[in-house]
Amino acid sequence: MTARIKLLRTSTFRLAALYLILFAVSVSALLGYVYWNTAVLLERQTDDTIRAEVQALADQYRLRGLRGIIDTIQRRSVDESGSVYLLAGVEGVRIAGNLTSLPDIPTDEASWIEFPLDVERGSGRERHTARAFHTNLAGGFNLVVGRDVEALRQFATIIRRTIFYALAIALVLGLGGGLLMSRNFLRRVDAITEASRTIMAGNMAGRMPVQGSNDELDRLALALNEMLDQIESLMGAMKEVSSNVAHDLKTPLTRIKARVEAALRSGSEDEYRAALERTVDESDRLLATFNALLSIARAEAGQSRGGLVALDASTIIADVVELYEPMAEEAGGTLVSEAPAGLTVLGDRQLLAQALTNLFDNALKYGASPGSTPQISVSGRIEGDKVIISVNDHGVGIAPEDRGRVTERFVRLDSSRTEPGNGLGLSLVSGVMKLHKGTLVLEDNHPGLAAKLVLPLHRADS
Ligand SMILES: Nc1ncnc2c1ncn2[C@@H]1O[C@H](COP(=O)(O)OP(=O)(O)OP(=O)(O)O)[C@@H](O)[C@H]1O
Ligand SMILES: [Mg+2]
Repeated sequence: MTARIKLLRTSTFRLAALYLILFAVSVSALLGYVYWNTAVLLERQTDDTIRAEVQALADQYRLRGLRGIIDTIQRRSVDESGSVYLLAGVEGVRIAGNLTSLPDIPTDEASWIEFPLDVERGSGRERHTARAFHTNLAGGFNLVVGRDVEALRQFATIIRRTIFYALAIALVLGLGGGLLMSRNFLRRVDAITEASRTIMAGNMAGRMPVQGSNDELDRLALALNEMLDQIESLMGAMKEVSSNVAHDLKTPLTRIKARVEAALRSGSEDEYRAALERTVDESDRLLATFNALLSIARAEAGQSRGGLVALDASTIIADVVELYEPMAEEAGGTLVSEAPAGLTVLGDRQLLAQALTNLFDNALKYGASPGSTPQISVSGRIEGDKVIISVNDHGVGIAPEDRGRVTERFVRLDSSRTEPGNGLGLSLVSGVMKLHKGTLVLEDNHPGLAAKLVLPLHRADS
């Protein structure tokens, strides 16, 4: 019962029903028009002819007297045209015409009459319907002029019956088709609902059923599946990040605990002090890691895009270079920069400086091939509608297959395990780029790495 109601409530069925009503109305209008134009008009035409004939005979009677009208009626009566005539006397006695007697219709007035008519047809007799006009002529004569309208009536009946059956068939087919279509539709919607229930119940690998017909339901299912894929990969990434965070925090915390325990066991004041000092250091590093994670999350969420202002990136480059030049020299290397003014971007000064700092930090840490000193160059330029800031070194570089994953949180390549770090630097850079609608491009510097920040150029008028 409920299933049937559900079926009738589907939008497909409602649409089919609406369509059906429209169809029925237009079919009725069309057939009605045909009916009017054939049966009704034909009948009217017959009436007109009869009326004209009556008029002509009455004129004849007036002009040529009884003889004239009898002549004409006798002449016309022998035609096999389906016309009926009768001229009768006062008592209804036949004088002329092909009707044997006055039809049994009590009327003195001039009026339309219909009566049964026996017609000779080959072997037997048939009963037809005649329609005639009955009028009284001066002198008490009765004149009846009419036509056998059997064929006309049959034709009208056929047309009426056709209209009825056509409507009935259209209704049955439409209703059946609507139900069938709705059932199919409902079955597929039910399948999608069922699939989403199992997914909600925890089967994240489940997907919406796709028929392959590429209709709107299929497209909906495909879109939902894409969304589910996306959610699944995001959830996977999140799981990985949380397990990475847990892992990366566990190590320093374990170290702190071990150190504090050892100090407590030793009982010496100097050991206490040393352990506390190193705990403070370690806590600072932990805080820095947390801050980096939070900054990445904030940048990736794009929350602070409203706070972006037009600024000249060359000034940021100059600031960061000023900070890092002494460090490069201390390591025995060089840092050269070339950034003309006018690199206008819509940005957050602090985040962009942080991104650049992270790139310099990497270039210093990994930019020196073994046995040599870091040679770092930074350049800023405009290319089309982009501002490109490139930090290049001559170190070991990053293999093409690793360039995608080094921007993920906590990813560090095996070759860099000897250097300190959490693997969060490039994640923050790429988060900052996302916030600025830019990209971080890692390329080969033959040898070394060319890390490029590609940002949209901001024009004063845009
Ligand atoms: N200039 C570079 N040359 C070679 N390898 C690099 C360079 N920059 C980054 N890498 C590789 O990419 C990894 C990820 O870099 P990222 O800056 O994200 O982390 P990190 O430098 O290891 O740690 P953190 O920046 O958090 O202190 C590095 O561990 C290193 O293996
Ligand atoms: Mg780094």
